[in-house]
Amino acid sequence: MVQIQELIRGAQDVMSLAQGVVYWQPPKQALEKVQELVWEPSISRYGADEGPPELREALTKKMCQENNLCKSSVMVTAGANQAFVHIVLTLCDSGDSVVMFAPYYFNAYMSFQMTGVTNILVGPSNPKTLHPDADWLERTLLETNPIPKLVTVVNPGNPSGTYIPEPLLKRISDLCRDAGCWLVVDNTYEYFMYDGLKHSCVEGNHIVNIFSFSKAYGMMGWRVGYIAYPSEVKGFGAQLIKIQDDIPICASIISQHLALYSLEVGPEWVTEQVKELVKNRALVQEALSPLGEDAVKGGEGAIYQWAKLPDKYLDDFEVVRWLVRKHRVVVIPGSASGCHGHIRISFGGLREDDCQVAAGRLRGGLEELVRDGMVQ
Ligand SMILES: Cc1ncc(COP(=O)(O)O)c(C=O)c1O
Repeated sequence: MVQIQELIRGAQDVMSLAQGVVYWQPPKQALEKVQELVWEPSISRYGADEGPPELREALTKKMCQENNLCKSSVMVTAGANQAFVHIVLTLCDSGDSVVMFAPYYFNAYMSFQMTGVTNILVGPSNPKTLHPDADWLERTLLETNPIPKLVTVVNPGNPSGTYIPEPLLKRISDLCRDAGCWLVVDNTYEYFMYDGLKHSCVEGNHIVNIFSFSKAYGMMGWRVGYIAYPSEVKGFGAQLIKIQDDIPICASIISQHLALYSLEVGPEWVTEQVKELVKNRALVQEALSPLGEDAVKGGEGAIYQWAKLPDKYLDDFEVVRWLVRKHRVVVIPGSASGCHGHIRISFGGLREDDCQVAAGRLRGGLEELVRDGMVQ
C-alpha cells in the first residue's frame, strides 16, 4: 500500500480502486454522541488495556448472538492488523513455521516476516473457487516437523473476495485441532456478503478470531478491532495483555466510545451500506470483462475482485504503473499477495458515480492491454 500511495502521490487525477476502504463514514448518531465527549477527562487518560467493560460486554453479546462465539473472551485492539501482530507475538517464536494460502493478505504475511517467523508455508487455493486447498493442508500438517504453529485464513477473503463455506472452514479447523496447531481467522469483512451467502465463524480451544470496526462502520481512521480468544486456554489472556501493555497500552479511548455507540446503532445499519456495494461490484466486473470470464474471480464477499492478466504480463506491477500513467486508475498488483500476473480491484472506496468513472478507465486500459499491449 505504501508503494501504491507513492505511485499516485505525484500523479494528476488518478482514481483509486486500490486500497481496501469503504466510502461511508460512521453512523451519524454515533459521531454526534462522540462529539460531546471530547472534554471528558477520561477521554485523555489511558484506559483498561483489554478495553472498557461496557464495550467488552457489548462485544461478548454480539459475538454470541451474531457469530455463535459464546465461549470466547474478548480484547479490544487498535484495529485488526494490530490484532494479528498481537496473535503472532503471543503464539509464535522466531523460527516457527506457519501456514497461509495464496493469494494471501499481504499484511498478515509481513506480520510473520517482521516478527521472525520466516518459515511461511504458502499453500495453494483451488484455481476455480480460490478456496484454501484443505487436502494440501492435511498433507502439510502430517509431513511438517515440527508442526506449524498456526494456520491463518481470511473469511471472506482479502484479496480473493471469496468466502470460505462453513463445511470447509470446519474441515480446516478439525485438521488444525488434530495436528495440534492454532487456527487464526480474520473476519474483518464478516458483514460483506452478497447474493444471500452467510458468513460463519468456528470456535474452539485452538481457534482465535479477529474482527474489525474499520470497514463495517466506516471507522478506518479510528483504529478499533478485537480479538476473540478461547476463555478456557489458561494463560492466553495474560500473554495478550503483556503485549497490549507494551505496544498500544489500550486502543484510543474516544475511538472505543465510537465503537460502542456504533454497535448500539446495530448491524442492520452496516447491512444497509453493504447492500449498495453490489452496484459497484457490477461496474468493476464489467470493467474486467476484456480479460475474459475465466480470468475474473471473487466478489462473493469482502470488497474485492481478483483477476488474472494475460499470460505475458507476469510483471503485474509494471501493468499497474502503466494503468496509472496512461489510464489514471490504480489497482493492487497480485504479486503483493504471492501471485504474479494478477490484480486486485477494490470496489468499496468510491461512491457509485465515481466508481463508474474509475471502472470506465479500468475497462479502457484493459481493452488496450489485451488488444495492443502497454502502448505508452
Ligand atoms: C483482511 C484484513 N484484515 C485486517 C485489515 C485491517 O483492518 P484494521 O483497519 O482493523 O486494522 C484489513 C484492511 O484492509 C483487511 O483487509
